[in-house]
Amino acid sequence: MVEPMIGLKRSHGCAALRDGDVGGKATLMGWVHRRREFGGMTFIDLRDRDGITQVVFNPQHNSEAFEKSQALKSEFVIAVTGTVGKRPDGTTNARLATGDVELLAESIRILNTSKTSPVPVADETQATDEALRMKYRFLDLRRDKMKNRIIMRHQIAKAMRDYLDSQGFLEIETPILVRSTPEGARDYLVPSRVNPGKFYALPQSPQLFKQLLMVGGLERYFQIARCFRDEDLRADRQPEFTQLDLEMSFVEQDDVFTVIEGTLKHVFKQVAGIDLQTPFIRVPYREIMERYGSDKPDTRFGMEIFDVTEGLRGTEFARFNEVLERNGTIRGIAVPEQAGASRKELDTLAETVKSLGAAGLYAVAFQADGVKSSIGKFLQESHVNALRAHAKEGDLVLLVAHEEKSKALDILGRLRLELGRQHKLIPPGTYNFLWVVNFPQFHWNEEEQRLEAEHHPFTSPLPEDIPLIDTDPRNVRSSAYDLVLNGNELGSGSIRIHQRPLQERIFQAIGLNQEEANEKFGFLMEAFEYGAPPHGGIALGFDRLTAIMSGVDSIREVVAFPKNQNAVDPMTGAPVEVAQDQLDIVRIQVKATPKAPQESGVLV
Ligand code: AMO
Repeated sequence: MVEPMIGLKRSHGCAALRDGDVGGKATLMGWVHRRREFGGMTFIDLRDRDGITQVVFNPQHNSEAFEKSQALKSEFVIAVTGTVGKRPDGTTNARLATGDVELLAESIRILNTSKTSPVPVADETQATDEALRMKYRFLDLRRDKMKNRIIMRHQIAKAMRDYLDSQGFLEIETPILVRSTPEGARDYLVPSRVNPGKFYALPQSPQLFKQLLMVGGLERYFQIARCFRDEDLRADRQPEFTQLDLEMSFVEQDDVFTVIEGTLKHVFKQVAGIDLQTPFIRVPYREIMERYGSDKPDTRFGMEIFDVTEGLRGTEFARFNEVLERNGTIRGIAVPEQAGASRKELDTLAETVKSLGAAGLYAVAFQADGVKSSIGKFLQESHVNALRAHAKEGDLVLLVAHEEKSKALDILGRLRLELGRQHKLIPPGTYNFLWVVNFPQFHWNEEEQRLEAEHHPFTSPLPEDIPLIDTDPRNVRSSAYDLVLNGNELGSGSIRIHQRPLQERIFQAIGLNQEEANEKFGFLMEAFEYGAPPHGGIALGFDRLTAIMSGVDSIREVVAFPKNQNAVDPMTGAPVEVAQDQLDIVRIQVKATPKAPQESGVLV
């Protein structure tokens, strides 16, 4: 049944034919999207990447083609030649670009057959298990939604390249087989055959190379770079992912922001026709944590956290007094129009905050007929007024008291997000960008009892905070910044250290002695001794941006061939065991097989 394509040439794509083509000949090639029988004729929706054209097999017009069409099933691949006809009145289809015309088939070749697709290609409404979609990704990619996301991904990349080229950036590739770069995750290792017992790492990011490109005098670098991190996976994390990575010499923070704002403005305009307002607002890390309890707040809705520690002094509520005696804090949020929340709803919220580490959640409802609260009897008027300052009639004030300020903020930040989603306070189609600036240089690793770099150890501290490195390191602010979009960390970067002595000091502060620092980063510090220019940069999560612009929740939806939550590619089955001789060549011996991770259909 299957015939070769040889000698046939496609004349048009399946989205090309219009009224003006009526009467002419056309040869189309593509997949059988749908087949219908009507009035003794066969109608095929023929699909290619561009769109759909209706093909009519009429026994009166061409009996041989009609006969052959009887074998057609969904997803068969065919070539059809015929005459373009105008669709009879009343049968046009306004939803198709080609909806005014049809191709009257005169000959057909079946180029390939298809088994019944386990993934419904034509019916987008049918929910399909994601594990199945990933196993048959080559079919899933045929679906309109997936195809459009892949096209958008390409358009975003192209718009980025066009814009950065216009700004004097050079696209430069950096190595994939590298010495490990510390970005906080575990490395994927690659054994070296030529150097037995030695390993490359796959880059967690091009960080060190892009800095060395600046030392190399290339001034403005970018790359749509693949990065590899062996970390626990989530909806917004893949083990291999893509960054728009860039680095610039002779710049300060504002210069990097201007380039990124310009790039995103161009991308949104070109790809989605959206005019972004720039510059994006900038908020210091400390302030953002106080207001939202998160360094990647969703600012598409309000419900900001407020501080009532002072206002709630002197109540008769034991828990508050206990926390206040220990120098703790009381913070709250006002949930709009929820003063009437039921006991059951409040209990559920209380359970949520307890699971996050709070002793309890205290609700005060500002109802039209007065203030209602289970802790009401412990509050005097001044206390109620302190709360009223942050609420209006109809609001439900929720309070968390905690010994640790960061914990109280974190809990309320999560609650805020949950309630924002639950009560649909997040307006669709909004893009809220925000720069978070002045991150701390270090954070305290409780487990290892040592300081760690908050961003990475190549980030420069703010010059005015350098003296604090030795005396009060936890209060050193860095020149690191994050770009947040709709509650997602879209990007992260910093102005870098470009002088050896400061780099050595930072290594020392995070517990890397001179020997280790030289062993691991000697090449970088040496480079700094040869006229390294001041430089800085950033990397944007390319998959995350594409997912947000596509309106999907998981970056797996915008990656052609993603891995599942077990870092497995369900289509190829990677990773797999390899033959002993392959291991022998790289002199690797596999220890006792660990229990394989459970393959489950659950995706986070
Ligand atoms: P960072 O580690 O913050 O910075 O990464 C930059 C951005 O990359 C995205 N991202 C990811 N996306 C998908 N899957 C992952 N596993 C994943 N991990 C990170 C995020 C993040 O904001 N070299 C520095 C950048 C710099 O300083 O210039 C870096 O890689 O959107």
